[in-house]
Amino acid sequence: MTYVVNDNCIRCKFMDCVEVCPVDCFYEGENMLVIHPDECIDCGVCEPECPVDAIKPDTEPGLEKWLQVNAEYASKWPNITVKRDPPPDAKAFEGKPGKFDLYFSPEPGEGD
Ligand code: SF4
Ligand code: F3S
Repeated sequence: MTYVVNDNCIRCKFMDCVEVCPVDCFYEGENMLVIHPDECIDCGVCEPECPVDAIKPDTEPGLEKWLQVNAEYASKWPNITVKRDPPPDAKAFEGKPGKFDLYFSPEPGEGD
């Protein structure tokens, strides 16, 4: 199994998660992060760190799409291990529905 990031992260990108991951397996897109499914050791420490509940174990039902998105973009985006400032308008996107269709960007983030 692995943990996956879902669309609650999109345009929120708080990055609290990257500071706690013992194996540094978060990867950064322009407006969300993903977890590399082959690197995650399923420790679970990132899940409660996310203020918008964007991280889930893939054993929960309905996460197939997110597993696929995490797997695809973890191999395309740069690694991120250090928290930066979230987007200035992050709060405005908390809990908004349909964020993947509206805002998902395949472009890479900065990484570190
Ligand atoms: Fe990293 Fe553990 Fe979260 Fe996997 S579950 S992404 S290893 S902190
Ligand atoms: Fe995203 Fe939550 Fe991490 S918003 S960047 S998964 S702390």
